[in-house]
Amino acid sequence: MKKYSFDKSMIKVLLLEGVHENAVKYFKENGYQNIEYHKEALTDEALEEKLRNAHIIGIRSRTELRKDMLKKAPKLIAIGCFSIGTNQVDTREAKMLGIPVFNAPFSNTRSVAELVIAECIMLMRGIPEKNALAHNRVWLKSSGNAVEVRGKTLGIVGYGHIGSQVSILAESLGMNIVYYDILKKLTLGNAKPVCSLNELLKVSDTVTIHVPSTALTRNMISKEQVSIMKEGACLINASRGDVVDYKAVAEGLRTKHLAGAAADVFPVEPASNNEPFITELQEFSNVILTPHIGGNTVEAQANIGLEVAEKLVKFSDTGSTIGAVNFVEISLMQNTAKQRFLHIHKNVPGVLREVNNSFTSRGINISAEYLQTDPDIGYVILETESELDKSVLKELKNIRHTIKTRMVF
Ligand code: NAI
Repeated sequence: MKKYSFDKSMIKVLLLEGVHENAVKYFKENGYQNIEYHKEALTDEALEEKLRNAHIIGIRSRTELRKDMLKKAPKLIAIGCFSIGTNQVDTREAKMLGIPVFNAPFSNTRSVAELVIAECIMLMRGIPEKNALAHNRVWLKSSGNAVEVRGKTLGIVGYGHIGSQVSILAESLGMNIVYYDILKKLTLGNAKPVCSLNELLKVSDTVTIHVPSTALTRNMISKEQVSIMKEGACLINASRGDVVDYKAVAEGLRTKHLAGAAADVFPVEPASNNEPFITELQEFSNVILTPHIGGNTVEAQANIGLEVAEKLVKFSDTGSTIGAVNFVEISLMQNTAKQRFLHIHKNVPGVLREVNNSFTSRGINISAEYLQTDPDIGYVILETESELDKSVLKELKNIRHTIKTRMVF
């Protein structure tokens, strides 16, 4: 018989903002029936009311879970952000309340990689300006500087999830790949690591950027880097807007040092579709501009739905916090012991002794114990082979500095 954390009909799952139906399906397949689904975000008042009884909440980017709101959610055990980022949640406060926050950081990797490949081909064929002219009734039938991507060199800056996917796809088109990363990476296919950004810029026909936004990457492509790029090279940025200095790129395009560019991300992006969008790249017809949609595909949404639901169910069923953005990580399979106790506490000396004492003082043998701590909290999972003794849970709850405790059996 399948073991559940507790009667699953008691676990209330609140899913907002029309998270993908994959999430609902996954919860149901795993025995969760008490699911409330809303297509839209709730008003603050409605959210507050629903949070009084919710054990698990799933949101996208419009629902904000700040300190005040979290304090009004006494039963909440986990938050799922069905998004890449988690800015909409006060993750530190959630941690201090013993609530892990999960997201889906890599669900749209493939979507971004495909867009980059398409842009690389379009730019190297000079399609954006021919397209713009054709829309203006101009017929520019010329082979001009149009080239095949086969045999050309693609320089990938940042060989992480997206960069390495781009590498695989580009290589299958016959491109030569060089990449630069600050960390040593497992090289895929025939890609070649280079030792410096400049080395990459010097040899690449197209350069594509896939680094995070950090102090080190801010404006990592500026005037100097553009000047080092090959004459007639193209630049693609689908990472973060502050990684590339677009003024320098505009200058490179104006002087025809660069043959084209594609940008999906910008230092200042409109907060909604109603706001105007301005960039120095708008004057160039050989630039592809997209409104930060590199990862926006049906498939990415479906992946996000499944990935976050899987993490929430796993945590609820087993206590596993793998993939939580704000929590110490413990990875465990489904419980095979008679009972599993989860105890989240402030990380102060003596708590663990009291936790253990709650078992040993009753003559209960602890068959396994897993502990992870950070400077703020401790998370311990204990397993026993004894028969259920509910008084243990009560005692665990009353230990000083306890944040949350529950049982999985
Ligand atoms: P990742 O974390 O898997 O890979 C980033 C890579 O950059 C890592 O290998 C890291 O070592 C490397 N790196 C970091 N600093 C570096 C530096 N100074 N020089 C060279 N390499 C450096 O990240 P992932 O998932 O591949 O995402 C890459 C970027 O794409 C991120 O900025 C992310 O925000 C952005 N992104 C954009 C989307 C869009 O819609 N346009 C969608 C998804 C992600």
